[in-house]
Amino acid sequence: MEITSAEFKISSSRADMCPQGNLPEYAFIGRSNVGKSSLINMLTKRPKLAMTSSTPGKTLLINHFLINKEWYLVDLPGYGYAQRGKKMMEKIQKLIEYYVLEREQMTCLFVLLDSRLEPQKIDLEFMEWLGENGVPFAIIFTKADKQSIAKTRSNVNRYLNKLKEQWEELPPHFVSSSENKTGRKEILDYIDSINQSIHNTESM
Ligand code: GTP
Ligand code: MG
Repeated sequence: MEITSAEFKISSSRADMCPQGNLPEYAFIGRSNVGKSSLINMLTKRPKLAMTSSTPGKTLLINHFLINKEWYLVDLPGYGYAQRGKKMMEKIQKLIEYYVLEREQMTCLFVLLDSRLEPQKIDLEFMEWLGENGVPFAIIFTKADKQSIAKTRSNVNRYLNKLKEQWEELPPHFVSSSENKTGRKEILDYIDSINQSIHNTESM
């Protein structure tokens, strides 16, 4: 799939500010600084579309980007960044809960995990919470350029083995680098295949 247009639509601090309508939405979630906003820029090939920062806690709102006028990429705030303070943490948690549990347009949730790290409690708990609430998701292992291919592969396998302790079936997973565009085609093809299946169901 080629991305021919990508435009920022709205930053929402409340659920009722998010776009109306029934266009499918593909959302990125994960710890602060894991690379959600960078991934959106990489996929769209628009380096300044989503705001990125080396300081965690940059994205505090739900950001909608309209792609090819047909579907949305959604940049969610990162979870687990305590320095934001209690009030802000609670507000962000509420936004995430609304989006993940109630947003009907959410078609696929991608959980981003840093490919360099061993399984982190906060991420495992988050995925467990998704499971408890029956929310399907896919995984993207980010920042693969920061280590060798062999190291990424062994870390990913370690992670998947850890998940197998908890899950009968592993979610679809991808490896990405926003630096050198690793995973771009695979992730876009995956989104495209879901978009196609929605079209097919609608025309039946
Ligand atoms: P919050 O908005 O704070 O939740 O963070 P985020 O998940 O949106 O992370 P962001 O995309 O802002 O990236 C955080 C930092 O990691 C930035 O300094 C990026 O340049 C860097 N980064 C993100 N993805 C990659 C990657 O694939 N490779 C490398 N080398 N750096 C990356
Ligand atoms: Mg961000």
